[in-house]
Amino acid sequence: METVLSGIRSTGNLHLGNYFGAIKNFIKMQHEHRCYFFIADYHSLTTHPTPEDLHQNVKQVLVEYLAAGIDPEVATLYIQSDVPEVAELYLLLNMNAYMGELERCTTFKDKARKQSDNINAGLLTYPVLMAADILIHRATKVPVGKDQEQHLEMARTFGKRFNRMYNNEYFPEPYAFNFGVDLIKIPGLDGSTKMGKSEGEGNAVFLADDPKTIQKKIMRAVTDSGPTEKNQPKPQAIENIFNIMQVVSTQDTLNYFEDKYNSCEIRYGDMKKQLAEDVIAFTAPLREKILEIGADDVYLSKVARMGAEKARESAAKTVKEVREIIGFKPF
Ligand code: TRP
Repeated sequence: METVLSGIRSTGNLHLGNYFGAIKNFIKMQHEHRCYFFIADYHSLTTHPTPEDLHQNVKQVLVEYLAAGIDPEVATLYIQSDVPEVAELYLLLNMNAYMGELERCTTFKDKARKQSDNINAGLLTYPVLMAADILIHRATKVPVGKDQEQHLEMARTFGKRFNRMYNNEYFPEPYAFNFGVDLIKIPGLDGSTKMGKSEGEGNAVFLADDPKTIQKKIMRAVTDSGPTEKNQPKPQAIENIFNIMQVVSTQDTLNYFEDKYNSCEIRYGDMKKQLAEDVIAFTAPLREKILEIGADDVYLSKVARMGAEKARESAAKTVKEVREIIGFKPF
């Protein structure tokens, strides 16, 4: 059993791509490892959200992860800012993080370019806070995408540097965990190979989308004028529609449209209508849960409290030991 930790950005609703990608694996993993899932709301301050946005975003993420099947009794699901020990470890790690390496970080350079009027110190030390998130539970497996590899490498650097400075092996090395073959990639509706909210409106179907919205998005999905030769290979956009169908529709439905495609009789309007129906049927129970959990403030508060309690137990132990190693002593 290993300690797995995943930090969830507190902006952005879950879409089908997230669901079939990471979330399905989280749900499985929570039974196999010691899992910590947290919502990174301290991190979100690097972009200065308003108080209403901050709270609403955290709530939405919490609700959607619960609706998708993260079990707060099994995994430790918490909100970063409920665990102030993280802030203390961040402070301590900052003392051993060098300006040069932080300035060289590509995500910092990107962000500095994108928000040149707000290049705050939190942005610069974002990787230190992320390292604190990971090291505070001494996690070894961190499910992250390619864009977070450099941050993870920095977490290893800070952990190792601490170990070297104090001549011990306190922090284990955290490694990126990618799900390999278990990771199903859902393409976008706009012909791009990836479903994602940053790819633009209409590319992604969100779990919380209402049926009308889903219908509209899918009917507008990119297609072409259809095949002209029997059994011809599918262009990307068409392949995408088939791939989404593969995860939400029955095998019979899929075969039916495959045959139609191969015999050049396919009508994309019909196929999209069927796909919309199947996506709606698939997401309906999730959406229902999202609405139900979202309206249950008592439950949410219980979940958050329970998560904070479990996370703080592990975090407090680490901070106590780190303080001792550094040399802080009570009088
Ligand atoms: N930086 C991550 C992202 O943008 C979120 C994150 C914060 C994180 N702390 C983490 C991910 C710790 C993994 C571990 O997606």
